[in-house]
Amino acid sequence: MLQGKKILLGVTGSIAAYKSALLVRSLVKEGAEVRVIMTDAARDFISPLTLSTLSRQPVLHGLFDDSSWANHVMLGRWADVMLIAPLSCHTLSKMAGGGCDNLLMAVYLSATCPVVVAPAMDEDMWKHPTTRKNLDAIRSFGNQVIPVTHGELASGLVGEGRMAEPDDIVTFLSGMLASRGELAGKMALVTAGPTYEPIDPVRFIGNHSTGKMGVALARELRNRGASVKLVLGPTLLPHDLSGLDVVRVSTAEEMYEACVACYGDMDIAVMSAAVADFTPINVAGEKIKKKPEGLTLEFRRTRDILQTLGSSKKEGQFLVGFALETDHGRAYATGKLQSKNADLIVLNSLEDSGAGFGHDTNKVTLFDRNGGEFGFSVRSKAEVARDIVDVIVKSIRG
Ligand code: CTP
Repeated sequence: MLQGKKILLGVTGSIAAYKSALLVRSLVKEGAEVRVIMTDAARDFISPLTLSTLSRQPVLHGLFDDSSWANHVMLGRWADVMLIAPLSCHTLSKMAGGGCDNLLMAVYLSATCPVVVAPAMDEDMWKHPTTRKNLDAIRSFGNQVIPVTHGELASGLVGEGRMAEPDDIVTFLSGMLASRGELAGKMALVTAGPTYEPIDPVRFIGNHSTGKMGVALARELRNRGASVKLVLGPTLLPHDLSGLDVVRVSTAEEMYEACVACYGDMDIAVMSAAVADFTPINVAGEKIKKKPEGLTLEFRRTRDILQTLGSSKKEGQFLVGFALETDHGRAYATGKLQSKNADLIVLNSLEDSGAGFGHDTNKVTLFDRNGGEFGFSVRSKAEVARDIVDVIVKSIRG
C-alpha cells in the first residue's frame, strides 16, 4: 500500500534500532522508496551496512560526508513522510527544543512533509513529566506519535515503552498516506480473478485468470485513498489483500450478487474479473461417473455484471470495464463503452508477449467516452494499475 511513496527513515540510538532492519524491509516490500538517516548513537546499535543493503541506498549520517554537504533541505522536500523510528528520549528532547547538532535534526527542522515518530524507551523515562511535555510539544508542531506498546523492555522490566512493531508502523503509514490521497473519501468496487462454474461436486469450468491485475488495481485505488471492496474469484495465488474489504466468491452468479448489493454506494467500479459467460444449466448432485457415450453439457448465459452496473449507473459514478481481444481490439473496446454504458474500457492485448493471464506484466490501451485513447508499453501490473488509476482520477476530476 506504499507503492511509490518516498519515506525518509530516521534511526536514533535505542535498542529498538535492531527493528529498523525489519521496518526497512517491510517498507521496501510495500513498494516504498526508503532513505535512511542514522544518528551517531544509532550506529552503535545497528550497522549502516544492514540498512543500506535493505534500503538499496547509501545510509546518510553526517552533515558533511566525504567532504560533500548533505542537502538536508532537499531531503525533507523529497519525502512524502519523515518517520523517526525508533525515537530516543534524547532526540525527542531535541525535536521539542529545536536543537540542531546532526543531519537528522537538520532534516527534521527543515522538513516540509508530515513527520511521524515511533518512540522507544524504558517505562520510567516514558512516564517522566519531561517526556510527556516533549511529546505534547512535538504533537503541537503537527508531528504524529505512534504509541509505544506494553511488554518486555531492554532493562528486563515489563511495562510501557516498547516501540510499535514494524508491521504496525507500516500499517499506520499506509493509512495516513492513503487518507491524504486524491481518492480519499471515495468508495471503489473492484472485481478480480476467475469464476468457477460447477458441473458436479468435484468439477468446474474455470479460466486461467489469477486476479493479479485486479488486485493490483484494488491496491492502487486504496493507495490513493479510496475505500476498496474487492470481490475476488477463486484464485489460488496468495495475494496481499491488506487494507482491502475482500468478499470471496466462486461463481459468476455469486460475483453478480456481491457487486449489485453494494454498487449503489460506490463512486468507482472496476470490473477486471474474468467472469464466465456461460454456466452449466444442471449441476449434478453427485460426481458424474464415466459413461461410454461421453458427456454433453448444456449451458446458459451468466448475468453480465458490467452491463447491469452500467444500466443502473447514476450521475457521478465511474465505471470501468475490461476487454480481452485477439483482433479488432479498438472496435470491440469502443463498442463496449456504448453497449455496457462504461466510462472507460481497458483493452488487454493478447498479441503482445508478457501480457495477459498469469504474467507479472501487462500491456493495455484505454478508451474513454470522449474518444480519448491512451496507450502504454509492457509494464509491471502494479505500474499498469497506476496508469489506469491516473486516468480514472483525471476523468473524475474532469
Ligand atoms: N463481465 C461481467 N460479467 C460477465 C462477463 C463479463 O462483468 N458475466 C465483465 C468483465 O469483468 C470485463 C468485461 O465484462 O470487464 C468483458 O466484457 P465481455 O463483453 O464479457 O467481454 P468478452 O467476454 O470478451 O465478450 P465477447 O464474448 O463478446 O467477446
